[in-house]
Amino acid sequence: MHDTLLLFGATGDLSQRYLFPSLQHLLRDRLLPPDFRVVAVGRSDYDDGGFQAWLRERLANGDSRDDTALEDLLRRTHYHALDLNDAEAMAATLSQYADRPSVSYLSTPPDLFAPATRGLKAAGLLEGESRLVLEKPIGHDLASAREINATLKAALDESRIFRIDHYLGKAPVQNLLALRFGNTLMEAVWHNRWIESVDILVAETAGVDGREGYYANYGALRDMVQNHMLQLLALIAMEPPSALDADSIRDEKRKVLRSLRPMTPADVGKHSVRGRYEAGVVDGEAVRGFKHDSEVETFVALRAHIDNWRWSGVPFRIVTGKRMPSRATEVVVSFKPVSHWVFERPSKERARSNRLRMRLQPEETIELGLMGSLAAPEWGATELQPMSLDLSMSPAPIRRIAYERLLIDALKGDQTLFVRDDEVEAAWHWIDSISDAWRQAQTPVQPYPAGSWGPPAAVDFLPATLFGNGHKKKAS
Ligand code: BG6
Repeated sequence: MHDTLLLFGATGDLSQRYLFPSLQHLLRDRLLPPDFRVVAVGRSDYDDGGFQAWLRERLANGDSRDDTALEDLLRRTHYHALDLNDAEAMAATLSQYADRPSVSYLSTPPDLFAPATRGLKAAGLLEGESRLVLEKPIGHDLASAREINATLKAALDESRIFRIDHYLGKAPVQNLLALRFGNTLMEAVWHNRWIESVDILVAETAGVDGREGYYANYGALRDMVQNHMLQLLALIAMEPPSALDADSIRDEKRKVLRSLRPMTPADVGKHSVRGRYEAGVVDGEAVRGFKHDSEVETFVALRAHIDNWRWSGVPFRIVTGKRMPSRATEVVVSFKPVSHWVFERPSKERARSNRLRMRLQPEETIELGLMGSLAAPEWGATELQPMSLDLSMSPAPIRRIAYERLLIDALKGDQTLFVRDDEVEAAWHWIDSISDAWRQAQTPVQPYPAGSWGPPAAVDFLPATLFGNGHKKKAS
């Protein structure tokens, strides 16, 4: 396990909210090597003491175990103020850390990936066994992603490049693989013969606040679908890998991403809805709308098709939005109706098809919706009703921050939960087809009040489970 972590973007939001707290927890739980050290790099002009005071103020929480770990983390942390466009300065300041293999983590905007890589190379920090971790987004479209990947590969081998998608670090997301490939029952029906449709929903109550500049350039399609949602889709739709190693899994995910049917200007109107929140009420609080000159969406609903043997004809509805009424990340697999219905009650039309609902956030539950009858025959005709088989873990497991797992894996050199160059490019290829189609068809961004489930036109894209209504009419 490597014991030197260089963290670029050390004063940024992600570092404060997730990366340093993750390191604090890992130190608390003694999961890091004895000589572990952090080299924090940011733009703000601190010395070691100034940076440590700044970080202490943000992370101290009064819990004695956490606070002891925080002091330990601060003792191991050195800070440097650097401009990542200045390769010479990077080399002069950082080459002292090239004495042992390291992991450099770029938690920076993507336009700094190429210059920072050049600076790291000049500092000798990408040699031998050293690794590079990159935060999403990898570019803004396929062309820019290819450019970034080419620059990275000119500096170090793909086996030492770790592209983060923090959804892959979430335990319930990894559980999708366990459920699918650890169970004969699931895999036996995981097929277009038995599955009618799949819903993937990531709804957030949070808005764009504080990230307007970044968001105006990306929107929900690039910020959420290109990475997190397509990774979920790939895990649900992939073929069984022959082994659990990084490339066996990533080969299968890539095949799915490459089978996504590109969107065309002719069908984008039918298969997508874009929305943007206006003022409204979320969690009982009045919130402002998202105002910006750019025509960017904060909500997107898509109907995707995977053109391969297993999934032909099965719609995957992908929906994500900010300022929704509640936070929910879930995958719902709806099965086909039984082929011959023999019961009088309910009638065939009113029977509910089986459904597997996997809720990943905020709580973790797995429910299998079945039809059954509790009525004894002497009461008259058998009457079926929907029943739910609840596979939730109780008590709910305590989960680590996704980044804790990813940091450990990067320090160990395990790429399984990181995204490979060809996956990123395949995902952008499909995303570009949507943004091009939107542009050509001039697809409007429709307003929705904060605290609602998006524009009215999106209703057919939402999972029926959201409304507790198994019969919601849905155009597939
Ligand atoms: C990030 C996006 O990658 O994921 C954010 O940039 C989004 O816009 C966040 O809010 C959601 O992550 P999580 O873990 O809260 O579901």
